[in-house]
Parts: sequence; structure tokens; C-alpha cells
Amino acid sequence: MEPVLTLNTITKTFRDSEQNCPALAGVSIDAYPREILCIMGPSGCGKSTLLRIIDGLEQADAGTIQIAQGTMAGSLSVAMVFQDPALFPWLSIYENIVYGLRLTAQKVPEDEVNERAAALLALTHLDSFAHSYPHQLSGGMQQRVAVARALAVTPQVLLMDEPFSALDTFTRRELEDEVIRIRDGMKTTIIMVTHNPEEAVYIADRIIILSERPAVVSEVLPVDLPHPRDPAGPEFIRIRELVTRRVLGKPDP
Ligand SMILES: Nc1ncnc2c1ncn2[C@@H]1O[C@H](COP(=O)(O)OP(=O)(O)OP(=O)(O)O)[C@@H](O)[C@H]1O
Ligand SMILES: [Mg+2]
Repeated sequence: MEPVLTLNTITKTFRDSEQNCPALAGVSIDAYPREILCIMGPSGCGKSTLLRIIDGLEQADAGTIQIAQGTMAGSLSVAMVFQDPALFPWLSIYENIVYGLRLTAQKVPEDEVNERAAALLALTHLDSFAHSYPHQLSGGMQQRVAVARALAVTPQVLLMDEPFSALDTFTRRELEDEVIRIRDGMKTTIIMVTHNPEEAVYIADRIIILSERPAVVSEVLPVDLPHPRDPAGPEFIRIRELVTRRVLGKPDP
């Protein structure tokens, strides 16, 4: 199978007049269709920088990124969900969700805009809040809107940077289940940065572990457990503890 996204030895050093800060030292990752990849690594190792480079918000110094192009009108290669949902407070939930879709180069007919918004409102359980405003929603609901807004442009790859870390455990688990449903339903490849080993083992097909800064891929751990996964199962716990040790750089017992 052809990868949807190929990162080939991406390097990045932040430079200012005082000092150089090497962040990425040659990161190579392939992501396949409908795959959920979790990216983990020590704080400050370059995870957000990597996602920002894939999203085009930051430029790499060297290395190449190949990504499958969206083919439909109103379709983009990548879309990003940040830790802070950052919705537009003056727009309704509906208008927030379709915002990016209205900006895409090829104009999407209004019927289809409506159709996509309705499907996403249903997928994220927000049907009855289409005409509400962000301040009327809880944190978890706002993050759902951010996910729906990113999916509105039918991205080949959905990037998520610690999207659920500000949420309570229960809301978080619901949204993790939603991520799996999105992958199954929309055939989207998902790359998610998380600091939570349980979250990674709960949703990921593969967990990519980055080294201390400047980051390289130090390990790729496949998670071959069927969904829905049981966080209390022995294999789940084994992988979760392995991931924790690898991120911390601790030896196996
Ligand atoms: N715009 C910038 N200018 C200068 N240095 C930066 C910039 N953005 C990030 N850095 C530096 O690059 C390194 C990696 O930052 P990054 O935000 O990618 O880490 P991270 O892995 O996402 O960390 P965390 O887990 O804490 O979110 C850090 O040392 C940071 O100080
Ligand atoms: Mg970060």
C-alpha cells in the first residue's frame, strides 16, 4: 500500500541572534491510509514543530514531505486540531464548522456545504447546537466543534496536537472513541500528538516515539489489539508500560 504521507529526514533548527535551537534532526515517518499514528516524546522534543511543518505553518530546513492531494472540491491535504479549540466566538457552531470549507480554492456548492455540516454535526453529537455560539458549549463540546471544523475540508490527513489534554477523563474517552469512528467512517489518516500513554495505546495503530531534542524517531511500536480495546487487559498494560519507559528513556526491567 502507498503511504498517504511520507516525511523524509525532516530537520529544523530555530535560530535567533542569541542562539540556535535544534528541534528536529532528521525525522522520517510514513503514514498509511486510514492509519491512526500517535506521536509521543519528551516535552520540548519537537512534536508540535513536526505537526506545524506538516501543516505548512512552519518551514523545515531540509528533508521532504510528500502528501496525497485531496481531489474533491473543498478538500485539503491536511487539517489541524490544536489543544485549544480556538473557535470564532462571533460565529455560530454551524458557521465555525464550515468556515474553512468556504475558504477552499474550488467553490463548494451551498447544498454540499449544508450536507457536510449536517453529517459532521451528527458525527460529533452536536446536532442540536448548530445555532449556538461557542461560549454556550462546554470545553469538550468546543473541542468536538474543532474536530468537525477540521474534518469539513475532508483532509487526507488529520493532525491533532494534544487535542484532549485539557479535558476530563470521561469526556476524553468519549472523544477517543469518536476519533476511531471518524477513521472508520471518513477513511481519514490521523496523526495525533499525545502525552498520555493510555490514550496512545487505546487509539493508535502505531506509536512513534521521538527522542530528546533534537528529535529523531527512536522507536515505532505497533499496537495489534482489536477495538474496542480494554485498558485493563494484560497486553494493553504491557504496551502502555513499555511506551512509558521508552518515552522516559528507562531500561526494561
Ligand atoms: N517559534 C520558535 N522559536 C524558537 N524556538 C522554538 C519555536 N518553536 C519551538 N521552539 C523550540 O523548539 C523545541 C521544540 O518545541 P515543540 O513545541 O515542537 O516541542 P513539543 O515536543 O511540542 O513540546 P511539548 O511536549 O511541551 O508540547 C523547543 O526547545 C522550543 O523551545
Ligand atoms: Mg507541543
